Amino acid sequence: MTSVPPLPEQVEAALSGPRPLPVLQAGDPRLRLVAQRWDRQIGLQPLRELVQAMRQTMEAAPGVGLAAPQVGVGLALVVLADPAPVDPHVADVRDRRRVPFRVLLNPDCTPVGRETVSFYEGCLSVRGYRAVTPRYRRVRLTGVGLDGRPVDEVLSGWAARIVQHEVDHLRGTLYVDHAEARSVTSEANHLLWWAREARPEQAARVMGFDLEGEPR
Ligand code: NI
Repeated sequence: MTSVPPLPEQVEAALSGPRPLPVLQAGDPRLRLVAQRWDRQIGLQPLRELVQAMRQTMEAAPGVGLAAPQVGVGLALVVLADPAPVDPHVADVRDRRRVPFRVLLNPDCTPVGRETVSFYEGCLSVRGYRAVTPRYRRVRLTGVGLDGRPVDEVLSGWAARIVQHEVDHLRGTLYVDHAEARSVTSEANHLLWWAREARPEQAARVMGFDLEGEPR
């Protein structure tokens, strides 16, 4: 790969472009790099502008999370928000609760226990597809908020899934790296065949994949 410009230039380039920000798609080598930790190499003002642009981009998609590398900025920064627009039964099975908008700098997560859960997952950088992806049910999330306050909490269910997905982006990992290959479905076929199922049990039987997989 050709050389990567310094981080402040990456931020400037992103902020001088259109809104919502273009989201890099799988195959772009920038999605496979390890993001740099924020250590004040980006000032608070451009950082806040970047967060606003990422929020707008995530909401427009719509998505439940966005990591800076997805908009071409190799910084350990993610935004999250999950309005959880699913029916109560599906929400219960998936342990999906509303997550208010939040910003995480230098986030990291580690499994709490070894229990895993598999559900369909998608990514704004793998447009048009979904696949069943195993995740740890519970994780410990650490990092810093935009207000400088340290974050250290245990998350479970869908919130834990979102955090694992976004932290993966900062490690150069995409959900497809963990996903059950035989479960891959187009968005249209997901809606047609599998979206109504709270748990992908029938999909696993019909499509011939495992629901007991582990995150790689
Ligand atoms: Ni993603």
